[in-house]
Amino acid sequence: MTEPSIENIKKILVVGAGAMGSQIGMVCAISGYEVAVQDIDSSMLDKAKKELESRMSRNVEKERMTEKEVGEAFGRMTFTEDLESAASNADFVIEAAIEKLDVKRELFARLDEAAPEHAILATNSSTIVGSRVADATNRPDKVCNMHFFNPALIMKCVEIVRGPETSDATVETALELTKRIGKAPALLEKEISGFVANRILHALRDEAIDLYEGGYASFEDIDTACKTALGHPMGPFELMDLTGIDISYYVRQARYEETGNEADKPRKSIVEKFERGELGRKTGKGWYEYDEKGRRVERAEK
Ligand SMILES: NC(=O)c1ccc[n+]([C@@H]2O[C@H](COP(=O)([O-])OP(=O)(O)OC[C@H]3O[C@@H](n4cnc5c(N)ncnc54)[C@H](O)[C@@H]3O)[C@@H](O)[C@H]2O)c1
Repeated sequence: MTEPSIENIKKILVVGAGAMGSQIGMVCAISGYEVAVQDIDSSMLDKAKKELESRMSRNVEKERMTEKEVGEAFGRMTFTEDLESAASNADFVIEAAIEKLDVKRELFARLDEAAPEHAILATNSSTIVGSRVADATNRPDKVCNMHFFNPALIMKCVEIVRGPETSDATVETALELTKRIGKAPALLEKEISGFVANRILHALRDEAIDLYEGGYASFEDIDTACKTALGHPMGPFELMDLTGIDISYYVRQARYEETGNEADKPRKSIVEKFERGELGRKTGKGWYEYDEKGRRVERAEK
């Protein structure tokens, strides 16, 4: 049997035990799948296990899950440094390792060698489209993006991206798996950098910054409009403070280096904040100011 199909998926390998991989693994185990979480760094595996245990015990305290359900989910999980042996019986691989193309290409080549023929190899990358790793394998028809959002235990959306060589069976299996782990799939029929949600978020963010830099409205009032007119849970400036202004800076700098297009450069106010080290909640100041507990205190600047 070489064609992927949802009925064949019993074991899932998640590569990378960082912020994303650890939670993706837990999501799959909670939904009844046998899961191996692999990382090259054993301290990351230990950290992942500890963090998941404390998150799950909070779920039990809050009566979102029973102790038995949590125990059973952990019983289905293994944590390992051995990629080849974890891949050897995996039916579906979700790669969530560090965001470096050369690392991912090497991983995909090794996974292709070690995994059964029917296994789908998906990448959780936020920026690297599947075709850039598919050609490191001999199974480009079984490679796609499967992009979770952070925190993966909570966020419902998973973007599935069809590459030029991805087969229908791969897409259908990835869509069905997404549903079976309690998530909402959004399918992209063609590859595009940034996919759907982040492209829309960035377009909105650009417009918000342009309105602010053009002196049309304060950042607080732009946040108010987004929350109270558009129903967004957070305004774009609040969200930048939460995710980190350095992330906004690096994403745009990388895009500019790729395209050479001046319009892709980070906006002036982002560069200024980045250079001043005002990176948002984590530094106590970004667009807004925060106390040591991360609560907003007073307006930083207009
Ligand atoms: N953080 C986010 O908000 C987010 C959201 C969606 C998707 N992503 C994507 O998920 C992936 C992981 O991001 P993250 O935030 O979890 O990163 P992270 O830095 O928290 O974790 C990356 C992990 O990869 C491990 N790693 C590095 N090289 C490896 C290798 N050769 N084999 C196995 N493991 C290796 C590291 O030890 C680390 O534990 C990236 O591709 C990123 O683009 C991140």
